[in-house]
Amino acid sequence: MNLKTLTYNQSEIRFGNLTENGFDALLSSPRYAQSKKIIITDENVYDLWMEDFISSFEALHEAEIIQLPPGEENKVLDICQHVWSALSEYEIGRNDLIINFGGGVITDLGGFIAATFKRGLSFINVPTTLLSQVDASVGGKTGIDLGPYKNQIGVFADADYVFIDARYLTTLPPIELESGYAEMLKHGLIADAKYWKELKSIDLSSNPETWLDSIYHSVAIKQKIVTEDHLEKSNRKNLNFGHTIGHAIEGYYLENDAVIPHGYAVAWGMLAESFISLKMELLNQNEFEEINDTIRNRYPKLEVETAAIAEIKPLLLNDKKNVNGEISFTLLNKIGSAIYNQKVNDALISEAFEFILNPEA
Ligand code: GLY
Repeated sequence: MNLKTLTYNQSEIRFGNLTENGFDALLSSPRYAQSKKIIITDENVYDLWMEDFISSFEALHEAEIIQLPPGEENKVLDICQHVWSALSEYEIGRNDLIINFGGGVITDLGGFIAATFKRGLSFINVPTTLLSQVDASVGGKTGIDLGPYKNQIGVFADADYVFIDARYLTTLPPIELESGYAEMLKHGLIADAKYWKELKSIDLSSNPETWLDSIYHSVAIKQKIVTEDHLEKSNRKNLNFGHTIGHAIEGYYLENDAVIPHGYAVAWGMLAESFISLKMELLNQNEFEEINDTIRNRYPKLEVETAAIAEIKPLLLNDKKNVNGEISFTLLNKIGSAIYNQKVNDALISEAFEFILNPEA
């Protein structure tokens, strides 16, 4: 694929090799030449890629590096306070530039830090996981978790640029690729039936550098939606398909000091929410079975006791899409088309949880 670009709001997303698509020239351009550069990353990305990153781009030779512990359990206020203090020590000002180099935790948290420090610094995202490339790094949602509640504290703030280079995916463990792939399936399910069919044939053990066209396709779906509804007043809610139940499952794990890949939770959430869509006679039986088979073949089973449903369900009450205290779902009316602000009765929500735990029941 040739180098490609997408834009939304004031943000530009560039796809392709970082060296070839003008990263160094941009950092040395008048817009950023005088800015101090601060790279926020995690320990895994630091070990795998930092030497290559710094040595490849002259503009980064003098950059300060802030290295954070990896994992969703670290996407919390306490870590932000450490980073804000480090920025103060480095005497970072409004004209300086933060570069978030990592997965979804780094782009969410780093974006939030940039957006709030001294009322806002510019930032660039260089996402290194499939999940952050197809979802988290694009669209301006930044934030952190609050206890078991995902992304409860945050602001909308757009990166000046997002650079998507599939080379970084080559060092990802398979579980991380599966995690990002769930968000790609979601893009097909909510917006593009043809793309969903194409995605079903992706071999997740193939070289991810060959997936750049699909990554582009996913981001293009998201870019169209966030251009229409940046602040999630309307159809951006469709991007939350699978996330109402998915976030509650993730929250349950966080509460129990365990972390599961976000994409697994989204996959289980999409199963449950497709089941609800079927039972509410929005989605037909054939399409439901196609989704069910695809997800069950690609993802492990959710391993919690049935009794845990009583602990997971209350977490739905703090979902950000809720309206006037009522849980509000995004559902499917067919593959490739979603409908938001759907009220679902409590008994059906319980049935959906039971379905993902015991599919044969
Ligand atoms: N991850 C969903 C969104 O950005 O709206």
